[in-house]
Amino acid sequence: ALRASVAPKAQKPNQRSQYVLQPQASYKVAILGAAGGIGQPLALLIKMSPLVSTLNLYDIANVKGVAADLSHCNTPSQVLDFTGASELGNCLKGVNVVVIPAGVPRKPGMTRDDLFNINANIVKTLVEAVADNCPDAFIHIISNPVNSTVPIAAEVLKQKGVYDPKKLFGVTTLDVVRANTFVAQKKNLKLIDVDVPVVGGHAGITILPLLSKAKPSVSFTDEEVEQLTVRIQNAGTEVVEAKAGAGSATLSMGYAAARFVESSLRALDGDGDVYECSFVQSNLTDLPFFASRIKLGRKGIEAWIPSDLEGLTEYEQKALEALKPELKASIEKGIAFVQKQP
Ligand code: NAI
Repeated sequence: ALRASVAPKAQKPNQRSQYVLQPQASYKVAILGAAGGIGQPLALLIKMSPLVSTLNLYDIANVKGVAADLSHCNTPSQVLDFTGASELGNCLKGVNVVVIPAGVPRKPGMTRDDLFNINANIVKTLVEAVADNCPDAFIHIISNPVNSTVPIAAEVLKQKGVYDPKKLFGVTTLDVVRANTFVAQKKNLKLIDVDVPVVGGHAGITILPLLSKAKPSVSFTDEEVEQLTVRIQNAGTEVVEAKAGAGSATLSMGYAAARFVESSLRALDGDGDVYECSFVQSNLTDLPFFASRIKLGRKGIEAWIPSDLEGLTEYEQKALEALKPELKASIEKGIAFVQKQP
C-alpha cells in the first residue's frame, strides 16, 4: 500500500484535516510532464508526502495552473512550476528523485510500442537535462514503451558519463498494484495483505506476474492462473478501451507512481526494509534489463532479489522464456535509437 504516512499524533487541535502532515524529511522531487493525466494526480499524492520539502512541476504547457492549485494544500512541501525547455535546468537542480511521465499515451488499438517514435525523443531530451543538472538523482521512467525508454535513458546517461544503473528505474509498480487487486478479488483476500511480484517488462506478454510467489500463499487452478495472468497483462488495454480515446491509466498510475516515489524516499531516508518491483539493469537473466523485485537503499538498488525466479511453475517458466525475445528486441530498439544518432 502507498504509505501516505499521515501524522495524527502531531496534529494540532485546529488542524482537523487528516491531510495536514508534519514534515519528516526534506527531499526534493521533480515531475516532468506534470500537467498531464498522470502528472496531476501524481503531483497531488506527492504533495501529501511528509518526506518532501519541494515539489518541482515541469511541463511544456499548462503547469502554472496545476502548481497554483496544488500549492494551496497546507501540507509541508513547496510547489514550484517550470514551463518549457528554458526552465528545465532550474527545475532539476538539487533534486533527489525525478519522475518522468512526459509523452503521449495510447489510444484504442495502439500498442505501447506505437508510442516509440514520439516518446523516445521526449525521454532522451529530458534525461539529457537530468544528466546535466541532477546526475545523482533517482530517475523514475513512466513514459512508454518502458521496455525501450529505460534503455534509452541508460544510453543517454552513459554518453554523458553519469550512468549509475542503481539509480535508473522503469516504473512497473502499476503491474504489481493490478496483480494485487485482481488476486485479492479472485480469492476474497484483504487487499492490503496481498503482494504479487511481477517480473519481465511492461508491455503485453513481457508482463509476467508470478502468482506462485503471491503472498499470502494461495493456490490457483490452471484456469485461474491463465485468466489472472492475461487480465494483468491486458489491464492497461482494459482502461484504454474504457476511456475510448481519452487516454490510458492515469489515476491508478498516479497512485502506483506515488507509491514508488514514497518507497524511494523512504530508502533515501535510511529505511532498511524497502522492496519494490522495477524494470532495471539486471544480471538475473541473460537480458540486460529486466523487471524484478529489488531492495532499495540510500544509493539506489542495494540488491536484486533472485529468489522470485527460483522454483517457478512450468507455466511461469514457459512464459518467461516466451517473453524474452520480445523484451530483448524492445531493449535493443531503445539502445539503437540513441547510438544511431550523431
Ligand atoms: P498525457 O498526454 O495526459 O500527459 C503527458 C504530459 O506530458 C502532457 O502534459 C504533455 O504536455 C507533457 N509533455 C509532452 N512532451 C513533453 C516534453 N517534451 N517535456 C515535458 N512534458 C511533455 O499522458 P498520460 O496519460 O499522463 O501518460 C503519460 C505517459 O505515461 C504515456 O507515455 C503513457 O503511455 C505512460 N504510461 C505509463 C504507465 C506505466 O505503467 N509505466 C501506465 C500508464 C501510462
